[in-house]
Amino acid sequence: MAKSLRVGMIGYRFMGKAHSNAWRQAPHCFPLKAGVELHTICGRDSKAVEAAQKQLGWKNASTDWEKVVNSPEIDIIDINTPNDSHAPIAIAAAKAGKHVLCEKPLALTVEQCQQMLDAAKKAGIVHMVCHNYRRIPAIAQARKMIEEGALGDIFHYYARYAQDWIVDPNFPLVWRLQKGISGSGTHGDINAHIIDLGRYLVGEFSEVCGLMHTFIKERPMMDESGKGQGLGGKGSKKMGKVTVDDAAMFIGRFKNGALANLEATRFALGRKNHIQIEINGSSGSLSFDLEDMNRLKFFDNTDGQDRQGFRDILVTQPGGTHPYVGGWWPPGHIIGYEHTFTHTVLELLQALAEKRMPTPNFEDGVKNQRVLDAVERSAATGAWQKP
Ligand SMILES: NC(=O)c1ccc[n+]([C@@H]2O[C@H](COP(=O)([O-])OP(=O)(O)OC[C@H]3O[C@@H](n4cnc5c(N)ncnc54)[C@H](O)[C@@H]3O)[C@@H](O)[C@H]2O)c1
Repeated sequence: MAKSLRVGMIGYRFMGKAHSNAWRQAPHCFPLKAGVELHTICGRDSKAVEAAQKQLGWKNASTDWEKVVNSPEIDIIDINTPNDSHAPIAIAAAKAGKHVLCEKPLALTVEQCQQMLDAAKKAGIVHMVCHNYRRIPAIAQARKMIEEGALGDIFHYYARYAQDWIVDPNFPLVWRLQKGISGSGTHGDINAHIIDLGRYLVGEFSEVCGLMHTFIKERPMMDESGKGQGLGGKGSKKMGKVTVDDAAMFIGRFKNGALANLEATRFALGRKNHIQIEINGSSGSLSFDLEDMNRLKFFDNTDGQDRQGFRDILVTQPGGTHPYVGGWWPPGHIIGYEHTFTHTVLELLQALAEKRMPTPNFEDGVKNQRVLDAVERSAATGAWQKP
């Protein structure tokens, strides 16, 4: 191998764990021009970051992200912190000439996203935003089939992203429920993913009409020990205002004339991380369910009427038949959630080797944020809005 690319990763909890695994797995499973070195892991609490360093297998630990982004020993900065810190870290990293992988949503506002894109372009770095669901083999296969015309003209994009982890009114006010840190609630957190899949599979949105709602307006504030936790923690006796949406949904149109219907909620009891997608076109339909992520359902209207029905494609055929699975196991030996991050990192590493921009990148992050922003404007005014 020519050289090892040295990664500095900021934030080490949920996404930090997923990305650590991805950086380690990618060069083991796919042939790459350069190796990867898990160089430095960074967080704010020295004891916790040292524990994470050992568990996740990083060479060094730091509590100062500015030092990490400016270190001459680092080539790539991987941002896995809450949303309010994405812009300052990414902009500083770009100024220091580092390539950047940033978690979604890219930032809190369109303006911040644009500043990140401008800084990245000015510095000439390679940049990417982590919409990992694009990298599910069944989703990449869906895109290939749509591009090949298997669905004909697209009529409908229906997508639902449903969870249930904050139905309990005593669930504390974690950072995801505080607008100053997260930007928005379910909207930027999970609607952003199905907006990205809509852009990837169908095209650009032209107008949207949205509805956003907060079911529980006040929650116990976090106690000090749980400060900064994203998905759980201990609440105190003091109550605080929920400043984000609990559910966000919208209808819309794509520039190519297709209609969109998207729903994101954290109030769907029984739904843990449920992503369901259906796309209907003039020649056929595709259907996908994350809880059965190795399969893609395809209805082909050219089949004889006596045998028509949704066929069940097990997207695990290696040898170049199905995307990504050649790096893994023989046919039918299924893969899971963590592989989507490995494939994301793979796209970034391949792009670096081929001297091209990976997708989705900060341009996509800006476009995604424009859709999020248009839905928020629409929910506030009751009127259709353009991204
Ligand atoms: N791609 C996906 O599917 C996906 C899934 C979950 C989260 N995310 C995104 O990943 C990001 C992180 O979410 P998470 O669930 O891992 O959060 P988390 O709360 O589990 O972890 C956040 C980490 O950031 C660290 N941190 C916070 N502020 C910091 C600072 N100023 N400097 C250094 N470190 C700091 C915390 O110590 C912690 O290690 C968010 O932007 C979120 O939207 C993406």
